[in-house]
Amino acid sequence: MAGFQSLPGFRDFYPEDFSRRQHIFRNWRSTASAFGFQEYDAPVLEPLELYTTKSGDEIEGQLFSFKDKGERMVSLRPEMTPTVCRMVGAKAGALKRPIKWFSIAEFYRYERQQKGRLRAFNQFNADIFGEAGPEAEIELIALLVQCMTGFGLTKEDFYVRLSDRDLWFFYLEALGFNDAQARGILSAVDRFEKMGDDAFKGYAEAHGELPADKKASVLGFLKIRGLEELSSVLAPFNSEKLSARLVDWKRVLDGLAAMGLSDFITVDLGVVRGLAYYTGFVFEAFDRKGDLRALAGGGRYNDLVKKLGGPDLPAVGFAIGDVTTGLLLEQRGLMPAFAAAPDVYVVIGGAAERTAAFADIHALRATGIRVEYPFKDTAFGKQFKVAAESGAKLALIYGGDELAKGVVKIRNLTDRSEREVAREAVGLSVREFLSGR
Ligand code: HAM
Repeated sequence: MAGFQSLPGFRDFYPEDFSRRQHIFRNWRSTASAFGFQEYDAPVLEPLELYTTKSGDEIEGQLFSFKDKGERMVSLRPEMTPTVCRMVGAKAGALKRPIKWFSIAEFYRYERQQKGRLRAFNQFNADIFGEAGPEAEIELIALLVQCMTGFGLTKEDFYVRLSDRDLWFFYLEALGFNDAQARGILSAVDRFEKMGDDAFKGYAEAHGELPADKKASVLGFLKIRGLEELSSVLAPFNSEKLSARLVDWKRVLDGLAAMGLSDFITVDLGVVRGLAYYTGFVFEAFDRKGDLRALAGGGRYNDLVKKLGGPDLPAVGFAIGDVTTGLLLEQRGLMPAFAAAPDVYVVIGGAAERTAAFADIHALRATGIRVEYPFKDTAFGKQFKVAAESGAKLALIYGGDELAKGVVKIRNLTDRSEREVAREAVGLSVREFLSGR
């Protein structure tokens, strides 16, 4: 009989995998802290209602939801955004603004498994509440870029595509579409990259075939790749709303340029994001080669806090996934080797020497030095072999003859040189050796 296995799309983290994950988390955490974001956490299980209608059809179809023993409809969280909106909304009056929060947590979506897509994955979420202006977008996109460059990734490796649902709505309104039609078109635009022309089938079923000239305008708009091009396409509409929006665009791009980040950013109206709650700027990060699914995604969602029962509070944020990030780091050779080696391996003569060795081992460990020793008495030769294989930089030898003289032998496992030190000075000698003195 085959043994038990983890469920499809769920991962076991063996120590080596865990250390890779820690590397990713550590970088995200220290970067967020440099940007002045505060860390929070939340429940993995939430009322199902938190996601139905708020997150959009795609996520709704992927929920790990069920009825609990108290007859409540609940769901494992597929994303953090509704939860963080609920939390901030409940205490909004008491929180100093702008509210800049981040979290690192696991999420669950019943997706079809494929490269870069699992059913349980981690995200780094960063969100700003209480800032309506594009300063929040600048801060978050800069954070997103730094979260990737912190690993050693460069502009050759990834980029951020910046788009704007507001601008899409204004544009579609100017073309004569009503709100429902505009939403239908945006969901077609969202699918266009993957499905091509078939993306418009859903629209045709709901609203009738899109007239050829309008379709050409939509396809032209989604291919826009620069601010100048955008301005010239919008100029003939002579709309104040559109011009005001272009001023916001310029502020975002100028702010990021001043931070030296222009090379990471592409204007790309082809991105509209599948989640239903976005209201303004939206952005996604991808690897340059286009091998992987999205590394990160986010945008502005000014209505969600209120929709979830909180005050009217503008918000913008993004999430980076650990799966695609990990794949990209592996591809680029930027994932550090697994380091499990102790600093010191203690070789023990026998039962009689164990007492002295144990006292010193514990004292060394209490100062943070990583120490290993054999659980059972074995021949010296075998212990030295284990010491060498352990990757330790030095061995401490507790032999009967040495202890009788009140000394311990220190062996440098790299050049095999040995010397004796007084037992009282073992801690000091080890620390000196490890600090390279
Ligand atoms: P999202 O685009 O659904 O946005 O997910 C963000 C990132 O999480 C994706 O770019 C991807 O790297 C990762 N991700 C999503 N689904 C999976 C999966 N099944 N397997 C592996 N990785 C995955 C959101 O979740 C928004 N709540 C982000 C946000 C925060 N918006 C505002 N604040």
